Amino acid sequence: MPTRHDPGVTFRTIIEPFRIHAVEPLVMTTPEQRQQAVREAGYNLFSLHSRAVLIDLLTDSGTGAMSSEQWAGLQRGDESYAGSPSWHRFLEAVQELFPFAHVIPTHQGRAAEKILFTALCGPGQIVPNNTHFDTTRANIEAIGAEAVDLPCVEAGDPSGVHPFKGNIDLDRLDALLRDRAASIPAVMVTVTNNSGGGQPVSLTNLRAARDICSRHDVPLFLDACRFAENAWFIREREDGQSQRDVREIVREMASLADGMTMSAKKDGLANIGGWLALNDADLAARCRNLLILTEGFPTYGGLAGRDLEAIAQGLHEVVEHDYLRYRIRSTAYLGDALVELGIPIVRPTGGHAVYIDARAMLPHIPALQYPGQALAVALYEVGGVRGCEIGSVMFGRHPDGSESAAPMELVRLAIPRRTYTQSHIDYVIEVCAEVARDREALRGYRIVSEPPALRHFTARFEPIA
Ligand code: F0G
Repeated sequence: MPTRHDPGVTFRTIIEPFRIHAVEPLVMTTPEQRQQAVREAGYNLFSLHSRAVLIDLLTDSGTGAMSSEQWAGLQRGDESYAGSPSWHRFLEAVQELFPFAHVIPTHQGRAAEKILFTALCGPGQIVPNNTHFDTTRANIEAIGAEAVDLPCVEAGDPSGVHPFKGNIDLDRLDALLRDRAASIPAVMVTVTNNSGGGQPVSLTNLRAARDICSRHDVPLFLDACRFAENAWFIREREDGQSQRDVREIVREMASLADGMTMSAKKDGLANIGGWLALNDADLAARCRNLLILTEGFPTYGGLAGRDLEAIAQGLHEVVEHDYLRYRIRSTAYLGDALVELGIPIVRPTGGHAVYIDARAMLPHIPALQYPGQALAVALYEVGGVRGCEIGSVMFGRHPDGSESAAPMELVRLAIPRRTYTQSHIDYVIEVCAEVARDREALRGYRIVSEPPALRHFTARFEPIA
């Protein structure tokens, strides 16, 4: 029931709850220019000059627009090496939402992962997760441990609609812990589940995961990059949650975990930053020692004082309901339009991105000819829209050098926060429609060079004739 306190809900259009204060010009290019640019980039969209991209949906990470208060915070930034007021503002903002005893700032999420796993794991150990993000998996594998994905059954069906497709499979988690608890230094749950389609995890699932971990005496960590989007989905979709403040839901999520890793480039609304937070004092001390080796002193980590200010302010803004209502609705706007066009996507639409199901859209391209890559390149050539393959290019190569098809072949169109307007998205919809009309003409790719790990960033491709 709309109330006076929910501005806008009595109107159909959910507007951007901000107006534009500074603008960045976009560079217009022709299809011929883009074909040349992507050929020179070895058909790897990460290798493009971003000036050659019109609408950049490669990632929602660090690409959002800051608010006037965040820019003002940069001026307040205090660059004292130790104990700066900016550190205290950052710490207070983090602990207001995540009241963990120890907060360790890092330059971004993967630095927190690297420190945590180095302190926690060793060769032969196992870290389960609903689905590991690529850097999380790579950091675990770099230590010689095994990253195991346990997504819920519903997550395996891209077109099936389920409110919490990000959930971890509780039966498999319990079974794994029963067999191997001694080799499992921690369980992680990623909120929202990025690699699985930006899908949320329910409070019910988190509570049950907590119980299982407690029973086996294994700590539970959140990969909390998109915690606010996850909490908004809980408010919208989970029984009994619709009247709660998102801050309260976030605090409950935190209360179910023993710690967290965070990339402030997502729901910190900042362009850089992250942290590791946890309750275990011994583990925190080991992590701080590692932090000092590679990131910096524990009151700034890898960050400038001004970055700490931007994150502190971002954390106040990201839990505002008007912002989250707009954020989630504007992503669904793109997803709904693609469904209307008959383009297969992971449903329901995720929080930060729309994931096109390239396997369903391009059934004539085999997995190891990378249908997601073919689609991502076509979206760029046709309309200058840069998305990101999340399929067999990203996940198909294993530490032993072998290759097999990833569970899904997706192209993620990630929406930077507060950056593009509805007309930009209307343009993206038209580009998708144009590519879909000609889908049968698309061809697969082969990899001509690749590094041993995280190959999607630097591999070079050529089209298969
Ligand atoms: N965990 C998740 C779920 C992520 O999505 C990311 C980054 C990280 C950890 C690592 O954080 O980039 O600050 O080091 N995801 C970005 C993306 C890169 O495009 O999805 P980071």
